[in-house]
Amino acid sequence: MCGIIGYVSEGDCCGALFDALRRLEYRGYDSAGIAVLGEKGFSVCKKQGGVSNLASFYAAGNTGVGHTRWATHGAPSDKNAHPHRAGKIALVHNGIVENYAALKAELEADGELFLSETDSEVIAKLISRAYRGDLLRAVHAALGRAEGAYAVAVIAEDRPGEIVAARYKSPLIAGCGREGLFVCSDIPAVAAGAGYIAKAEDGEFVRIADGEICFYDRDLRPVPKVFFRPQADLGAAPSDAGGYCMRREIGEIPAALRRTFCALEKTDFAPCARALRGAKRIFAVACGTAYHSALAFRDAAERDVGVPVLCCTAGEFRYRPPLTERGDLVVAVSQSGETADTLEAVRLAKERGGYVVAVTNAGCSSLASLADFTLVMRAGAEIAVAATKSYNCQLLCLWYLAAEMLFFKRQKYPDWFSSLQKLPSAAEETISLFSEIDRIADSLKDAAAMYFLGRGADECTAREGALKVKEIACVFAEGLAAGELKHGPLALVREGFPVFMTATQPPLFKKCENALAEVRSRGGFAALFSQSEEALSQSCADVKVRLPALPAALMPCIAVIPLQYFAYRMCLERGLDPDKPKNLAKSVTVE
Ligand code: F6R
Repeated sequence: MCGIIGYVSEGDCCGALFDALRRLEYRGYDSAGIAVLGEKGFSVCKKQGGVSNLASFYAAGNTGVGHTRWATHGAPSDKNAHPHRAGKIALVHNGIVENYAALKAELEADGELFLSETDSEVIAKLISRAYRGDLLRAVHAALGRAEGAYAVAVIAEDRPGEIVAARYKSPLIAGCGREGLFVCSDIPAVAAGAGYIAKAEDGEFVRIADGEICFYDRDLRPVPKVFFRPQADLGAAPSDAGGYCMRREIGEIPAALRRTFCALEKTDFAPCARALRGAKRIFAVACGTAYHSALAFRDAAERDVGVPVLCCTAGEFRYRPPLTERGDLVVAVSQSGETADTLEAVRLAKERGGYVVAVTNAGCSSLASLADFTLVMRAGAEIAVAATKSYNCQLLCLWYLAAEMLFFKRQKYPDWFSSLQKLPSAAEETISLFSEIDRIADSLKDAAAMYFLGRGADECTAREGALKVKEIACVFAEGLAAGELKHGPLALVREGFPVFMTATQPPLFKKCENALAEVRSRGGFAALFSQSEEALSQSCADVKVRLPALPAALMPCIAVIPLQYFAYRMCLERGLDPDKPKNLAKSVTVE
């Protein structure tokens, strides 16, 4: 989950590298580095900490590489930061070289000295040893020995104007931008200034030299590529563009829903009609927040379409008995479209004959390339590590998909379908409730743990609220089906223990209230979120938040917003940076 960039620019490339790294920072922010090739060889600056630590670095030269790191092998430190040097080579790497220990032992036995604890330095050494003036061949030879996943960008001291990059299971693009020709791990980092880009596929190599970008296959045969303009709305603002990205992105939920609804209305579902009509069961695969949206999809598809949905976290899908068969519909959800576990699950499902519908924010992502049909949500660039607006848009896309399924199966749309377009204004109304949430966060800032509960369609909201609080506010939080409370978790509830109940499903109000009564009778602090006047007025909760009213099936899209914001506020109360949560980075491209 590191970000990599390489530039061959018209003038000096240092500024372009730094700018791209600021936009790539969500990929990891424990260290960052730049190497620029100038007349006197390499100038390298690499430092533990964020990209801003490189702000004072400048070196003349039009060829360079940059990296922002999320540590896997070797702690965050100056020496483990990329670029790594070996002989005439400087390299940046995203991925994990799984056989690095064996390769390192072999190289050490042959006299090589390592300066870092990273797996990446092993590749730099291998390239350096293979290099005889032809950088492409040297990279090809070295990577032939690496197992695992990689996207690398490499420059050589005696080859100004040239970058060689390669990809295997970690994303890589190449393109032309205002500043020159580049390779990069992420489209959002370059989308704003890019003219045209093309994607490298697994096993491919890219060479930028003599003002051209050439792609090669695993046998170094040239591969023709279609260059395309990246989705402009994916252009990422740097994380220091003013205010916190997470807050900005929560505020963008109504606009993101509006854009997504318009895009869905223009989507032609006919190409997947057969798969939607014929599906007797659905596998929904995703990770983290996206997995929670899969849970919401299950609710709608089972209730309204009558098709069983098996939700599986993508990382587990491939290790379960492979039950997917021809005719099964596989719904894969991923904001980035680059999450390694989700991609592997989709590959497996396809091998077994499943028809894959992807829901992603990146229409040109690896997931979109693998899927049989792709629904592109229009959340816009999501830079904060914690997913917020993309979750709301995923729900909208998945419900729309469920509605299309029902249409193709029974030629009938569910009643709530037309209500989907009310989501943006309901989201706006919800945002106006934030001052109430500020007060709750203020009163709970010292809480050491908390529960989030919900039943039926509200369970996904409970789980998502808990995930946000964990990752952003660093407070232990558990999201539970409310009915489970009495089967064990109640043991922790004591004086002041916070319990957030989302209750938006009318048949379950009484059951939810019972759970809150159990909390209150043990002295716990109960907060209730509901759209129902009746549920709120009859509740024993300490704090009651009235949500805007929508058809119950759609409430998860709205009910989650106060919880997203609560996590953000708790994070600020505790003096943390919501855009740089501990130990996390966005777009998990390693398994
Ligand atoms: C949580 C979060 C993660 C992602 C997960 C999947 O806030 O962002 O849990 O949802 O890593 O990422 P995508 O959706 O890009 O596949």
